[in-house]
Amino acid sequence: MSKPITEETISHITGKVDIVDIIGEYVHLKKSGRNYLGLCPFHNEKTPSFSVSHEKQFYHCFGCGAGGNVFSFLMEMEGYTFPQAVRSLGEKTGVSVHLDPNQEGRLKQRNIEKENMQKAHHLAAQLFHHMLMERKEGAPARKYLQDRGFKLETLTEFEIGFAPDSWDFLTNFLDKRQYPLDLMEKAGLLAKGDGHRYFDRFRNRVMFPIKDAQGQVIAFGGRTLGEDQPKYLNSPETPLFHKSQLLFNFHRARPDIRQNQTTILYEGFIDVISSWQAGVTNATAPLGTSISEDQARVIKRNSEKVILCFDGDQAGINAMTRAHDVLEKQGCLIKVAALPDGVDPDDYIQSHGAVTFQKNVLQQAKSHTAFRLDALRKGRNLQDDEERMAYVQEALDLISRLNRAVERDHYLRQIAQEFSLSLDALKQEQYQIFRTQKSKENRDKASDKWNNSRNNGKHLVAKQMFPAYHNAERHLLAHMLQSAEVAHNVREEVGSDFNIDEHSALAAYLYAFYAEGHEPDIQMFLSKLEDPELIQLATQLSILSIEPDPSDQVIRDYIKEILTYPFHLRLKEKEDFKRRLERQGDILQAAYVAKEIMEMQARMKQDKNSSHVSFIDR
Ligand code: GTP
Ligand code: MN
Repeated sequence: MSKPITEETISHITGKVDIVDIIGEYVHLKKSGRNYLGLCPFHNEKTPSFSVSHEKQFYHCFGCGAGGNVFSFLMEMEGYTFPQAVRSLGEKTGVSVHLDPNQEGRLKQRNIEKENMQKAHHLAAQLFHHMLMERKEGAPARKYLQDRGFKLETLTEFEIGFAPDSWDFLTNFLDKRQYPLDLMEKAGLLAKGDGHRYFDRFRNRVMFPIKDAQGQVIAFGGRTLGEDQPKYLNSPETPLFHKSQLLFNFHRARPDIRQNQTTILYEGFIDVISSWQAGVTNATAPLGTSISEDQARVIKRNSEKVILCFDGDQAGINAMTRAHDVLEKQGCLIKVAALPDGVDPDDYIQSHGAVTFQKNVLQQAKSHTAFRLDALRKGRNLQDDEERMAYVQEALDLISRLNRAVERDHYLRQIAQEFSLSLDALKQEQYQIFRTQKSKENRDKASDKWNNSRNNGKHLVAKQMFPAYHNAERHLLAHMLQSAEVAHNVREEVGSDFNIDEHSALAAYLYAFYAEGHEPDIQMFLSKLEDPELIQLATQLSILSIEPDPSDQVIRDYIKEILTYPFHLRLKEKEDFKRRLERQGDILQAAYVAKEIMEMQARMKQDKNSSHVSFIDR
């Protein structure tokens, strides 16, 4: 096996990036003492326990135990392999990374295809934009957009275009430029009919380019000019375009989102564009689907707060509730900005203007519960006893689903006051409803809801208590990470006889590391590991609090603990065996085993006084 990525490459890259910057692109970090602190992106939390060290160039979560260096962070976050992580940082820092020829070849092939798809999208966007802005065929579309209130500069800013009413306009254009048509179909620009004829997917539509995080066009949303169905035709899923991972306009809105720590989420991309034109530039929207966990995670990484601003009709309210639940799972603080029934943000902005929109809609955003309680009142005459009671009943149902007692209390008090009801009676009633909901949920065998973290708790080891031998191994490895001499001694005494497999593996890497002549260097060592589990373990161990200069005795005690553990284990097994024999009435055999046990104990006692661990038969 050739070693595709050299140590030199790694140090070159790590010398040029700061882990704080890289992680800062995903997690909102605040300086705290010597380190930076933020909410862990690998598990769900409300108070920050994710720490990034500038000095040591690694991260560690005290909540879930996740940890590692800049490469392992990208591996976890982006799902990269180690070489991919190195490569991506290489690109960022201008360090060229050589992969082995095999990897290189596969990657190249994929990259060439992707590059071609991207180029084609770029060209198509330019072409459509030109058609809209300059050409006679685009005039009706231009008029349509202007009638809808879009300014020319907005059309330019968003590179909005027009696909003419033709079956082969784009097909011919791409064909002439030698873009393989099958690839163009794969890219979602063309469609294929019977007899393998390719034709334009988008015809007679206003074209909205959809851009990725780098601002590259990778898909389109096409709106019909008239009443044709479907109203919006979006690109299908392609190697470039993954609907559930991308948010419309995010690359443009991101700086503002981060600065304000607030994301405004709309249902449609027209709303985003309209909002942008009105000066609200921290807005985004999913792409014709309801918001996914991945999208919610992207939002959470960039801002604390989300304001949901959806259509004011029932469908909008339902969509909002879905979005709310997904975002809440990621730990976002959610507010809801209500719109009049049947009006979407774009309609509102176009008819009331930017200032009123900001003042009467966005700034009036309230909690999701308050919003839903308001929604329950709609169309009800609360002067009528019966309708009022029906409202209270539904409100209690909603309040019962709130997890926090103070929140429940808050809304119960509101209702008690508004309708002059006894707070105690309301509380009792609400508790009854809660019980009913719960037993129903149990019947429905509600799925495992508590764990919604990205790694399904695979990291949740940090606060675990370890048995003595396990702890000894951890501490010994921690010392080995800081001292080549300790590592050398452990190599002699313990070798690969750690009781935990991961510990043996880590020790083997460390022996090799020092054998290559390295000084203790956690950052360099981590980059040798490649395996995220080991990287995480090594990171955890490197921040264990240990004495800086341990005495020989301390190290010897750890070694002894480790080496005697199998012996203790055997002793315990023998004792169990003896008890079983006694229970079975096999007194003779039991006596024989008892003698063995006594011998073992005697040897152990003897050994306690000497510094060696000679009784171990290796
Ligand atoms: P206008 O009618 O142009 O104002 O657009 P809108 O944003 O008000 O549209 P609507 O609220 O109906 O839809 C919101 C989002 O859902 C759009 O941005 C599209 O992404 C998606 N969408 C709407 N209609 C369709 C459709 O017919 N097909 C598909 N695939 N997506 C649609
Ligand atoms: Mn609309």
